[in-house]
Order: sequence, then structure tokens, then C-alpha cells
Amino acid sequence: MILFEFFQEVWHNNIRHLPLIGQLTCGFLAFTCLPLLVSVVSISVCILVPMRIISKFTTKWCTCKNRMDGKTVLLTGATSGIGYEAALDLARRGARLILPVRNMEKGKTVSSTISRLTGNKNINLKFMDLANLDSVREFCQSLVAEEARIDVLINNAGNAPWEKVIDITDDGLEYQMASNYFGHFLMTNLIIDLMKNAAPSRIINMGSKVHWRSTDLDMDNLNFQRGDAGYWKIYGASKLCMMLFTKELSRKLEDDGVVVNTMHPGVVDTPIYDRQPTYIRLLLWIPRKILFRSPKEGAQTLIHLAVAPEVQNISGKYFVDCKESSWYSCVVEDTGMAKRLWKKSCELVQLQEKDLRI
Ligand SMILES: NC(=O)c1ccc[n+]([C@@H]2O[C@H](COP(=O)([O-])OP(=O)(O)OC[C@H]3O[C@@H](n4cnc5c(N)ncnc54)[C@H](OP(=O)(O)O)[C@@H]3O)[C@@H](O)[C@H]2O)c1
Repeated sequence: MILFEFFQEVWHNNIRHLPLIGQLTCGFLAFTCLPLLVSVVSISVCILVPMRIISKFTTKWCTCKNRMDGKTVLLTGATSGIGYEAALDLARRGARLILPVRNMEKGKTVSSTISRLTGNKNINLKFMDLANLDSVREFCQSLVAEEARIDVLINNAGNAPWEKVIDITDDGLEYQMASNYFGHFLMTNLIIDLMKNAAPSRIINMGSKVHWRSTDLDMDNLNFQRGDAGYWKIYGASKLCMMLFTKELSRKLEDDGVVVNTMHPGVVDTPIYDRQPTYIRLLLWIPRKILFRSPKEGAQTLIHLAVAPEVQNISGKYFVDCKESSWYSCVVEDTGMAKRLWKKSCELVQLQEKDLRI
């Protein structure tokens, strides 16, 4: 009724005075676009909002209150999103943070924000570009020279350029594969003695449910130089590699007091989605803002794996919502595949004989 009165008023005061073509255009818009707009808004309110409320109530939070004083945490990808929120939480618990970043300006801003918000000044900012093997080696060299131990290693950084073009780095690796997996693989190998020195210590590898997209991983084409692969396929492959790496690493470190697990954070509204093509960004905007988790919510499983005492003796597992999950592809359990990937990765990152410590 109110809507009807509103239209009546608009007709009398505005549209009535327009020329015929203007009146017809307004009529057309009123009978086509307006109902569409009303439907979109109603659907958003009736479906998305209750879904958001359900998601808010079902998101699991890390309930552990343990402090991390005296512990050293190395965390990649702290300049935004999930990594930033995890770094903030761990700094609040008193951890000493080592944050390797590829953008030092951004890193300085983030580390001073974390210090200001938490009062923790114990943050060691360093440069490392995971997509550049020389940079990873330089970072590891300085770390091994300066540090005695690392208690928690969080291999979180990752990106998804969402572009169809296959981008090959100077090391001959596909860019996403290098940033999300190969860089972390090399770094973990080169600093593993620091983890062993701190035993019992923990490694957390960021996986993703998207690994399902790439279960047909081709060991002879890990950098997608042959064939036609879309960005989901490559991103999924990088995450599947992180999960297979977790399995094999946990087997290799069984007697060293270092546990290693992988996880999925949920679908989280972070800058990782900002580089999508414009039409996808427009389509995703409402779901992103209403349905996706906040970065703080997305960081909870990461924080849980870093601090909770009940996971200290669990290794080689996959976590979602702060608990173990078995809802992942059976390919991840393929020991032969994990071993082949390990061997191939050693070759591709040119791990020297002297560096083989695992
Ligand atoms: N968001 C989700 O829905 C979702 C779901 C499943 C898994 N994940 C995973 O969660 C992790 C964190 O992602 P996010 O959503 O928090 O994204 P984000 O906000 O874009 O953060 C990604 C972080 O990784 C860093 N990074 C990317 N490439 C790097 C490189 N080559 N060298 C060094 N650092 C690099 C970025 O540095 P800059 O600031 O310099 O770019 C940034 O700090 C990723 O591994 C992602 O795959 C996310």
C-alpha cells in the first residue's frame, strides 16, 4: 500500500510532466528493472542474511587461552587477510614473531600496527619472495645464522592471480605453484634443524578445499607448461601439493618431535579475491560481504593449530573449523604420490645434497 502511494506521488509530481518517450521509459523501467531489483534485494534479505547468521553461529573459534611467551613463530603472508589476523593473535599471546614478507613497505606498516595494537615489540621483519628461490635461500641462510630455534612454522602465504596466462618464474616454476607450494617446500627443508631444535614444535601448512579441483596431478607437468589449465586448476594443484607435502613431511619427522598438519580456513573475504576479473568481482561482491567469513574468523583454525595443547601430538592431519576432518580427496592419502611429489620437488627447487636434512 505504501509502495503504491509512493508510485502515485512520483507519477503526479515527476513522470506526468515528462514527454511521452520519457513516460514510456519510466514505465518500462518500473515494470522490468524495479521488480528485478526488488526480487534481488528480497532474495538477499531472505536467503543470504539467515545464511550469514547461521554461518556466524557455526564458525568455530579457537577457545585456547594459552600464552606463547618465549616461543618463536615464523609466519608467511602476514601482510594481509588470514595471516595478518593470526599474527595479531599470536603477538597478543606474547609470541616472538618472524615475518618474512615480499613487500617491505607493507610489512613495516603491518608490523608497527601489530606492535601498537598488542604492545608486543618482538617482531622481526624480513624480506622473502616465495616465488623466487634465491630470495628463499637468502632468507633461510640469514635465519639459520641468527636463530637457534623456531617453535611454530606457519606456511600460510599464497596467491591466486586468477589469470589465464601461465606465468613462469625465472626458476622455471609456475608462479602460483612457486608462491603457494615450492617456496614453502624449499624454506621448510632449509630451516628444519631450527624446528628440530625446538621440539616439540609445530608446522602448519595452508591447504584448501579447492585441492579437489586438481586430483589428477601430473608429476611430469607440475608447472603447467603443457596443456591448457585454468587458474582454479593451478591453485587447486598448489594446495593439493601442500597437503601431500604435509603427509610426507609428517612421516619423515615422525621421530623428531615436530608435528605437521594442514587445514582449510573456510571461504574468507580477503584481498586474495581482489584480482579476479571485474565481472566475477561484481558477481561475488554481495556473497563476499554477507556469506564469506571475516579474516579473523578464517584465522581461527590456524591459531588453534599453533597454540592448542591437544594438537601437540597430532601429525599429518587435515583440520577444518578447529577440528580434524576426513573430508578431503583420497589422493591425499596416496603415499606413492606424496613420495613422488617430494622427489620431484627436490629436483625442481634444486635442493642440494648438503641441504637434505629431512
Ligand atoms: N581466502 C580464502 O577464502 C581462502 C580459502 C582457502 C585457503 N586460503 C589460503 O589462505 C592463505 C592466506 O590467504 P588470504 O585469503 O589471507 O589472502 P591474502 O589476504 O591475499 O594474503 C596472502 C598473503 O600471502 C602473501 N604472498 C603471496 N604471494 C607471496 C610471495 N610470492 N612471497 C611472499 N608472500 C606472498 C601476500 O603478500 P602481499 O601482501 O605482498 O600480497 C599476503 O600477505 C593462502 O595460502 C590462501 O590460498 C584462503
